[in-house]
Amino acid sequence: MRFSTLAGLVTLATSASAALTPITIRGNAFYAGNSRFYVRGVDYQPGGASDPKDPLADTAICGRDIPALKELGVNAVRVYIIDSAADHDACMKMLDDAGIYLILDVNTPKHSITRKDPGISYNEVYLQHVFGTMDVMSKYSNLMAYFAGNEVVNDETNTYAATFVKATVRDMKAYQKARKLRAIPIGYSAADVAQNRQQIAEYMNSGPDDERVDFHGYNDYSWCGAASSFQISGYDQKVKNYTGYGIPTFLSEFGCNVNPPRTFTEIESIYHTNMTGVFSGGLVYEWTQEENKYGLVEVSKDLKSIKRLVDYDNLKEMYKNVPNPTGDGGATLTAGKASECPDKVVGVWEADCSLPAMPSKAAGYFTSGAGEPLGLNGPTNQWSGPAPPPSETESGGAAAATTTSPNAAPMALPSMNFVAIGSISSIVIAGLLGGAALL
Ligand SMILES: *[C@@H]1O[C@H](CO)[C@@H](O)[C@H](O)[C@H]1NC(C)=O
Ligand SMILES: *[C@@H]1O[C@H](CO)[C@@H](O)[C@H](O)[C@H]1NC(C)=O
Repeated sequence: MRFSTLAGLVTLATSASAALTPITIRGNAFYAGNSRFYVRGVDYQPGGASDPKDPLADTAICGRDIPALKELGVNAVRVYIIDSAADHDACMKMLDDAGIYLILDVNTPKHSITRKDPGISYNEVYLQHVFGTMDVMSKYSNLMAYFAGNEVVNDETNTYAATFVKATVRDMKAYQKARKLRAIPIGYSAADVAQNRQQIAEYMNSGPDDERVDFHGYNDYSWCGAASSFQISGYDQKVKNYTGYGIPTFLSEFGCNVNPPRTFTEIESIYHTNMTGVFSGGLVYEWTQEENKYGLVEVSKDLKSIKRLVDYDNLKEMYKNVPNPTGDGGATLTAGKASECPDKVVGVWEADCSLPAMPSKAAGYFTSGAGEPLGLNGPTNQWSGPAPPPSETESGGAAAATTTSPNAAPMALPSMNFVAIGSISSIVIAGLLGGAALL
């Protein structure tokens, strides 16, 4: 992103080629132009969940993998972490040239809604990170969708955190509008928690259009091996339960590995009209072999090459043999309706139907952009008291503030962002008006 020092306006570098048609939503399905789009993808996080790296900032990594992804037959990858301060032009172009869309999680180890202190972590530093990521990524026409969160709720004890994930979704939607960024679909990727999987899906899709998600993702490991089936896995029940769900949904992770090697027989159901009236495909977990043994390929010690594993060959064979249904696959084309916001049940479901106001200090981003992206090393949003620790304040270059509300914590103005005086005064004015006025 570049700033004009005169006007303080953002000019986006246009991407060199735009081979892929941006994905849009109609009813409960995705479309590429007039063709229904099913996610046939892979979760792409070399390094694994414990040591994830941005795979799209380095052509030595993405260039190593993209030809094999293309050969596998995927049309999408999900990336859990990127370094928003890095340049992604080259890898995004390589993906585009290979016919592959990106589904992007906007969080990093330093920037996320925390389960322990969700309300405190929902602050202006967090939103600066999220918005800054959108500023630099939304120019890519093959960016299919954002995940505002992944498995933030992962049992029955932390359901309250969903409130702040949904507030983030609302703020992201508002930010796209205010900054005139392309309306990239925004969703949430849910853990498969039997006690509340229905509630989280309904919750995320409840409320006014500017608060609810555009789509919903499920991480689902219930189909284990060739002995499973549409019925044994419980997929049939999920189709039943989510029939009538107003927005697209897909399996944001699948590929149970209890009976290796995996044969991926679930592909036959996922791209069958048994499911495609409700589900829009899915993402296999995951590209590289890590300690938890879900890999399709193994990366060499020097990181320079990959070896295709049996699971890769099996998945490739399934993709080849199982086409998408013809036509619209049973999708509902009429505008999807919102779900009812689920009632609170103590110890089961405790998210608030009415969302917190956006932290007022984030309002300036709507008028002037989020500034230099924070990247992986910027000041964290995850302080546990009412204000960020001093070191974080310093690294953010912000003026010290002695306030008690998390919403009033100092805005971490990154160096050299808001160069024009006019921009600064508009931040102050917008800040005085408060976040709600901008929504
Ligand atoms: C389907 O919905 C029912 C009723 O809400 C619930 O009890 C059941 O667990 C759900 N099944 C699945 C597979 O989600
Ligand atoms: C589709 O559903 C029918 C009826 O439930 C079932 O018998 C069949 O095995 C299913 N096929 C696939 C590929 O899921």
